[in-house]
Amino acid sequence: MSANVFVMVMVALVMCGQWQVYAKEEKLLVKMSLVRNASAIGAYCLDGSLPAYHWHRGFGAGARNWLLQFEGGGWCNDIQSCLARAKTRRGSTRFMSKWEVFSGILSNNASLNPDFYNWNRVKLRYCDGASFAGDSMFFNGKSLLYFRGQKIWEAIILDLLPKGLGQARKALLSGCSAGGLSSFLHCDNFKNYLPTNASVKCLSDAGFFLDERDISLNHSMRFFYKDLVSLQGVENNLDKNCTSSFYFPELCIFPQYTLRYISTPFFILNSAYDVFQFHHALVPPSADPRGHWSRCKQNPAECRPNQIDTLQGFRQDMLLALRSFYNLSRRGGMFINSCFAHCQSETQDTWFGIDSPRIHNKLPRFDQTIAEAVGDWYFSRRVTKEIDCAYPCGTNCHNLIP
Ligand SMILES: *[C@@H]1O[C@H](CO)[C@@H](O)[C@H](O)[C@H]1NC(C)=O
Ligand SMILES: *[C@@H]1O[C@H](CO)[C@@H](O)[C@H](O)[C@H]1NC(C)=O
Ligand SMILES: *[C@@H]1O[C@H](CO)[C@@H](O)[C@H](O)[C@H]1NC(C)=O
Ligand SMILES: *[C@@H]1O[C@H](CO)[C@@H](O)[C@H](O)[C@H]1NC(C)=O
Ligand SMILES: *[C@@H]1O[C@H](CO)[C@@H](O)[C@H](O)[C@H]1NC(C)=O
Ligand SMILES: *[C@@H]1O[C@H](CO)[C@@H](O)[C@H](O)[C@H]1NC(C)=O
Repeated sequence: MSANVFVMVMVALVMCGQWQVYAKEEKLLVKMSLVRNASAIGAYCLDGSLPAYHWHRGFGAGARNWLLQFEGGGWCNDIQSCLARAKTRRGSTRFMSKWEVFSGILSNNASLNPDFYNWNRVKLRYCDGASFAGDSMFFNGKSLLYFRGQKIWEAIILDLLPKGLGQARKALLSGCSAGGLSSFLHCDNFKNYLPTNASVKCLSDAGFFLDERDISLNHSMRFFYKDLVSLQGVENNLDKNCTSSFYFPELCIFPQYTLRYISTPFFILNSAYDVFQFHHALVPPSADPRGHWSRCKQNPAECRPNQIDTLQGFRQDMLLALRSFYNLSRRGGMFINSCFAHCQSETQDTWFGIDSPRIHNKLPRFDQTIAEAVGDWYFSRRVTKEIDCAYPCGTNCHNLIP
């Protein structure tokens, strides 16, 4: 059972030598539930611990609606990095926080989360290292690693079905970063578990990882994912229509190739200058050994003109990869902004607030927050496909300066 408490957080700041109350906010903390019988289908975290989720019950008109949110947190694509991860909160529920803050799209406050606040909201904890999509294991006589993300996904769904998910009227499968990739990979499968008359849709936040060459022209993301797919046994869980059309089936882990085979309505939320992709896919340390990009990575205002050109090229490639979705997907939605951000749905100040990101190249009345764009799309209040103009466009960006 998931219990919850409200915690009053008083933030006091020393200003002008005096203590002043600077802000007062209520945070919703939700307790972790372990999936006790996950072992029945061999669903374990990397280290063999039980998988878990956090559930805050829906109420009122939202009592029969369900939002499932995959947690993100990168991947591990070789034994060494998976062994290291198994000893952290990214690979074991034993090391995870037992209480999670539910904010942004997970908030239960109507003035912070206007469309989903009263739904059942579930956060699926990430502990497999392959976006909930692997099914394999490793044992060399000494070390043991479970690569069971697909089973974890199934065990959590099976656990939630009798708790009300099985009678859902409306559902949204969401996730951020590696969890945003999970949304692409599991979207149609999710729909199959729910009543045929339920309204089921999916959202990916910062999960549109591009098949892009890095600045040294190496296909580094492709190599990374190829190792991930083969190490963790992901290929069988990729879309069959996609894998049967590709000579290199592992490419179907890239959303741009699998997207056209997803039949469930989908919303793509991503920055065109996603900071994770900028730092790890476009300019990974291996491609910039002398650190020419260090200053630009710290602060976009310090980028040289040729570096800005490279970033604009990345944006162009992302828009190209999204072209047929933009033009052809009738029930799809998108919000591609021009901030140096990564994950914008779970933090309150990017999801829905006075100064949260907006796209301004539309009429003022369409000048919406991300929460409104996603809500309008989900409830079919209007078509929401928005692409901001290129950097330095980007309104109310909450840029991540690492
Ligand atoms: C909901 O959020 C608003 C805006 O931050 C705040 O004023 C209000 O106290 C919150 N309500 C509850 C019940 O937490
Ligand atoms: C675990 O128990 C729940 C509740 O009885 C059940 O719905 C679910 O199918 C079980 N899960 C597995 C993996 O057997
Ligand atoms: C779906 O069908 C079931 C059974 O007929 C019904 O109880 C339920 O209200 C329907 N759900 C929706 C969203 O129409
Ligand atoms: C290309 O990228 C892969 C994956 O990051 C890396 O292992 C490899 O060393 C890179 N190759 C070159 C020539 O930099
Ligand atoms: C996937 O393939 C099946 C069987 O060939 C077909 O019925 C289905 O429509 C295809 N789905 C998509 C989205 O192409
Ligand atoms: C839609 O397609 C047209 C024609 O191919 C193209 O010019 C346009 O850029 C596309 N729109 C987007 C947003 O990709």
